[in-house]
Amino acid sequence: MALYSEKVMDHFRNPRNVGVIEDADGIGEVGNAKCGDIMKIYLKIENDVIEDVKFETFGCGSAIASSSMATELIKGKHVSDALQLTNKAVTEALDGLPAHKIHCSVLAEEAIKSAVKDYYDKNGIEYEKEKFAACEEGHCCH
Ligand code: FES
Repeated sequence: MALYSEKVMDHFRNPRNVGVIEDADGIGEVGNAKCGDIMKIYLKIENDVIEDVKFETFGCGSAIASSSMATELIKGKHVSDALQLTNKAVTEALDGLPAHKIHCSVLAEEAIKSAVKDYYDKNGIEYEKEKFAACEEGHCCH
């Protein structure tokens, strides 16, 4: 069996939602200290719904495919639904990732959480701190 699924290859070669949103309502940037990869997510939010999402990923093919798939999965969704997105769901939607590449999908989950947190912080919206434990633990870049 090929190491990467067709879906991974497709999202790596033709990533969806690449770019920047200049007037983003929430921006999340996370990095993995071990591999040095960085992922940035931009959210345009209206009435708590993600109207648009873009990403910039400086990283491996799996990180690019994970960002692409993750942005597709949260587009048009309520921010609270985006917060539920797990790296497992991203991996499953990609028809799997090799074990040593699972951390790439974790980066996508954390980048989205970080962007939603930024949106909440900017708008003075209350949230449960434990939902963002990973950010607090310093996995995020900032
Ligand atoms: Fe680190 Fe893929 S190798 S994000």
